[in-house]
Amino acid sequence: MPPSPSLPELLATVAAVTDLPALDAVEQEIFGRKHGVLTLRMKEIQNALPEQKKELGKKMNVMKQTLTEAVERRRKELELASVASIAETDRLDVTLELPKKDRGHLHLIPQFIAQVEEVFGRMGFEVAEGPEIETEENNFNLLNIPEDHPARDAQDTFWITDPSDKSKPASERFVLRTHTSNVQIRFMKSHTPPFRAIFPGKVYRKDADATHSPMFHQFEGLMIGKDVSLANMKSVMMEAIRELIAPTAEFRFRTGFFPFVEPGLEVDVRWQGDEEESREGRWIEIVGCGMVHPNVLRNCTIDPDEWQGFAFGFGVERMIMIKHQIPDLRLFYQGEPRFLKQF
Ligand code: DAH
Repeated sequence: MPPSPSLPELLATVAAVTDLPALDAVEQEIFGRKHGVLTLRMKEIQNALPEQKKELGKKMNVMKQTLTEAVERRRKELELASVASIAETDRLDVTLELPKKDRGHLHLIPQFIAQVEEVFGRMGFEVAEGPEIETEENNFNLLNIPEDHPARDAQDTFWITDPSDKSKPASERFVLRTHTSNVQIRFMKSHTPPFRAIFPGKVYRKDADATHSPMFHQFEGLMIGKDVSLANMKSVMMEAIRELIAPTAEFRFRTGFFPFVEPGLEVDVRWQGDEEESREGRWIEIVGCGMVHPNVLRNCTIDPDEWQGFAFGFGVERMIMIKHQIPDLRLFYQGEPRFLKQF
C-alpha cells in the first residue's frame, strides 16, 4: 500500500487544480467517506498505540481544518476566475454602433403623421386629439348629419351601444368614431375663434378590401376666423398635397357633398404608378373639405354671422399609397418586415 500523501502534498494538489470539476474530484479524494485520505488516516489512528492516539487525533484535526480552508479558498478563486472569463468571452460592448439595417423605426403611418404635423405646423395649425369611442351626438348629430344619412347605416358604423335602442339620447349612445370630424366639434365647443388646428387619429368603418380597412387613419383640419375663405382653403390643400405627396403631384377639385360643410369639395390626386396597380382608376380621392356649415358652428355656440372658415378630412393611408405607389392597403397592417423596412 503506497504511503498516504502528506499535508504539504495535499495542499499542493489543491493549489494546482485549475477548474471547479477538478476541485470537486480532489475534494472527494481527500474527504470522501469511504476512500478519502482523511478517512484512511482515521482508521490508522484507531490502530495506533493508546498513548499516541491523542497526539495523532489533534494533528488530524489541524490537517482537516487546513485542508477544508484550502479547498474553500481555491473554490472561491476558481469561481471568480470563471466569472471573469465569462465576462471576457461573452463581452458585449453596448457602445458599439448597430448596423443600420437592424435598427427599429417608426411604422410609416406615424412617420407620415409626424410629417403632417410639421407641414401644418409651419402653416400655423396646432395639433389636438379626440377619443376613438365617441357619442352619436359628436360623431353625427352636431355635424349636421341627419338621422337618415347613409353614413349612419349600421353597415358602416361600429356601434358600442345598441343602435336600435332609442330610449337614450344621442349623447349617451356610443360608436367607434367613423371619422376624425368628431374632434372638430370637441375643439369648437372648447375654444374661442379665431383658431386653426389639425386632429390626426384612427377611425373605424365596417369595410374591408384592397383600398378599405375597418380601421384606418385620417387627419381632420379646421380653420375659423373673421374672413377665412374658400380661396384660403384651396391654397392650404394645395400646399399640403405638394409637401406631403410630391411637389409635382397632379390634383383636381370636384364638388362633393358632406352635411357639415357648404359648399363641399373633394380633391383627387393622380395615381403615379402603373395603371393596372390602381383598383380605382387614375384619380384617387384623398380629402373632403368645405366651408363649415352654419348649423355646425351654431351647434358649437359659434356665431355664423361673425365667424366662418373651412374644415377638411384627409385619408392618411391613401396619401401614403399615392406617395409610395403602394397598391394594397392591407400591406400597412401585416407587419411584414420586408415591406416596412423600405420606409
Ligand atoms: N368626415 C369625412 C369622411 O370621413 C371627410 C371630410 C369631408 C371631413 C369634408 C371634413 C370635410 O372636415 O369638410 O369621409
